[in-house]
Amino acid sequence: MKTDLSDILTCLRSAGGYVSGQQLCERLGVSRTAVWKAVNRLKEEGYRIESVSRKGYLLVESPEDVLSESEIASRLTTEWAGRKLYYYGETGSTNNDAKRCGEEDDPHGTVVVADIQNAGKGRRGRAWQTLSGTALSFSILLRPAFPAERASMITLVMALAVAEAVEEAMEGSIAVHIKWPNDLVINRKKVCGMLTEMTMTPELDEIQYLVVGVGINVNNESPQEFQEEIRQTATSLRIESGRRQNRAALLQAVLCRFEKYYGTFLETLDMSRLREAYQARLQGLGGEVRVLDPAGEYTGISRGINDRGELVVERGSGECVAVYAGEVSVRGLYGYV
Ligand code: BTN
Repeated sequence: MKTDLSDILTCLRSAGGYVSGQQLCERLGVSRTAVWKAVNRLKEEGYRIESVSRKGYLLVESPEDVLSESEIASRLTTEWAGRKLYYYGETGSTNNDAKRCGEEDDPHGTVVVADIQNAGKGRRGRAWQTLSGTALSFSILLRPAFPAERASMITLVMALAVAEAVEEAMEGSIAVHIKWPNDLVINRKKVCGMLTEMTMTPELDEIQYLVVGVGINVNNESPQEFQEEIRQTATSLRIESGRRQNRAALLQAVLCRFEKYYGTFLETLDMSRLREAYQARLQGLGGEVRVLDPAGEYTGISRGINDRGELVVERGSGECVAVYAGEVSVRGLYGYV
């Protein structure tokens, strides 16, 4: 049933005009009654579809923000990212779901998306809250052949992909910065966080799979919707742009860019070809940062990233230290950024 809906939506969307009932039947290999029923189900979901005799069906308007399997699948233009897709109205954590996919036979690029996460995970063991209708929360399963020490850079690749997709969704009206390594920031407030988890093969010491989880605050209407601890430092695309965003369209834009940049990363297995684009968005470049190293905090000037994706910090002595994302976090001197 669901496949029919996404197939029909894909046909209606790509036609850009009327599609006859006959064409739909032929393309989808179903009867006219099946097409008619599917169109009615789409109408019930809020799609405006015109049916005109002798012309066929026309997709006039999609609901403003519907996150469903058919809506996502009908928008996908990627080769492998999201081609296997799991959508849940509610789940615990999409990262945990994607890890289960990793243990099964699910392919590289499998994506798990959920409207609500009731046990979402943040970095450093923190919880990540996802309320209905507000966030784009998804995880992508990767089955890379590169060595484990390269894996931390994949979150930087994703950060770049999401930053560009978000900026495009906001029609370039608002600048999206990256707080190294992978928080996205608008007007000095966090709009997106990422959590990458790696599982190794027990016997070969190779990556069995990687899961990159992304949580974007999209349609939260006001800061009051965030938990108190993050109310001062979090924002959403809607708060910043004043407009509701379509989460399925945003997901498509993210996956498209991620697929492209993942390919670029694979050419060198480092950030050399993506460094410039990443650095152009780096929050606080050339400014003072505090490095929260478990071995001792220190301050210095952010000099950008090196080819391994480490943050280069110049200390008072003039010595440059390469900070590795796994061990430390970096703050601006006066708050979150
Ligand atoms: C952080 O900034 O602390 C990371 C937040 C990561 C949240 C995303 S939401 C989708 C995926 N599933 C999870 O349980 N966590 C990540």
